[in-house]
Amino acid sequence: MYDIEKIRADFPILSRSVNGKPLTYLDNGASAQKPQVVIDAITQVYSQEYSNVHRGLHYLSNLTTEKYEAVRGTIARFLGAASENEIVLNSGTTEGINMVAYSWAMPRLQPGDEIVLSVMEHHANIVPWHFLRERQGVVLKWVDVDATGALDPQAVIDAIGPRTRLVAVSQCSNVLGTVVDVKAITKGAHDKGVPVLVDGSQGAVHMPVNVVDLDCDFYAITGHKLYGPSGSGAIYIKSDRMAEMRPFLGGGDMIREVSKDAVIYNDPPMKFEAGTPGIVQTIGLGVALDYMMDIGMKNIAAHEASVRDYANARLAGLNWLQVQGNAPGKAAIFSFTLDGAAHAHDISTILDKKGVAVRAGHHCAGPLMDFLGLTATCRASFGLYNTTDEVDVLIDALELAHELFA
Ligand code: ALA
Repeated sequence: MYDIEKIRADFPILSRSVNGKPLTYLDNGASAQKPQVVIDAITQVYSQEYSNVHRGLHYLSNLTTEKYEAVRGTIARFLGAASENEIVLNSGTTEGINMVAYSWAMPRLQPGDEIVLSVMEHHANIVPWHFLRERQGVVLKWVDVDATGALDPQAVIDAIGPRTRLVAVSQCSNVLGTVVDVKAITKGAHDKGVPVLVDGSQGAVHMPVNVVDLDCDFYAITGHKLYGPSGSGAIYIKSDRMAEMRPFLGGGDMIREVSKDAVIYNDPPMKFEAGTPGIVQTIGLGVALDYMMDIGMKNIAAHEASVRDYANARLAGLNWLQVQGNAPGKAAIFSFTLDGAAHAHDISTILDKKGVAVRAGHHCAGPLMDFLGLTATCRASFGLYNTTDEVDVLIDALELAHELFA
């Protein structure tokens, strides 16, 4: 049984008030709150165990290194990777995708080569590819979504031509909640000999992920959306792809020997991890992923699906509000606009007065906003601790905003 009261009690911030009202936190797409076990783990390391990793032979360094390195295995388990050596630890999805751009794509792609993207990518899965367009004449090929916000895998596969070198798609839109059939895309892309990068920032939060089953080449995650600390994250890289990559950042830890004339790199995945990492953040991420796996990703997905269905039905009852995207099987992420001149920022300010936290703006998804013909939306994004009662609070606050701006 999904014990929602117990789960909510695990997150201390959920019992606070904002503007004199109980907090209704619906900005999980931007960043999720942290359970006490993660907060305790961070405090424990900093107060009792902290040292640098991979560098010292003393007790604390060994202890911290052991805890830090264990997270690689936790992430491999969370993503269903065959080996923890396919996990590069980093600060989040943005770093992961930039690393693929610099380490894998830049040395390989020639002017006129193509990268296929969907129109609903987050800027983190767009701007690194623009670097290649600007610097080396790589062509970005965009695939639209349909009127419901769904992405047809066949349309992505059909966009792959003889010059396509990579497909880069999000598993779940941070704006529309659209869930993408990544497995169908990897199958079609691989049949044409093209690797697939998956932005898992939102997807890994809302559904069980198995990278072997998806058969993707790269899968990037970000810790702060997974109930872990900000500045933590990882990217799964299939070992064949990792072997093709040159190092990204140079510095300590990614190196075995350095002399005046030569360098010998560490073995992968360490070869791609330069400098002192986010030690405590990463340890916190490991605890957060264990927390999610203890609840069970299928249970989380089922709970969120019931909240999503309830929210869908209630929002559909507001004839002055337009929800963007209603693709089948979407995650519990709702972007909407209201009739009239009210800007999304004004709506979110009214909601905030009622203790309801949402995001307003372009959501770092410029091409999607252009596609939708909008400059901004309000977005309510739900997580594992949200309830149908909170949907009711959202609806009441929206009705107030509508009255004020109608
Ligand atoms: N990518 C985050 C969002 O969608 C920040 O809000």
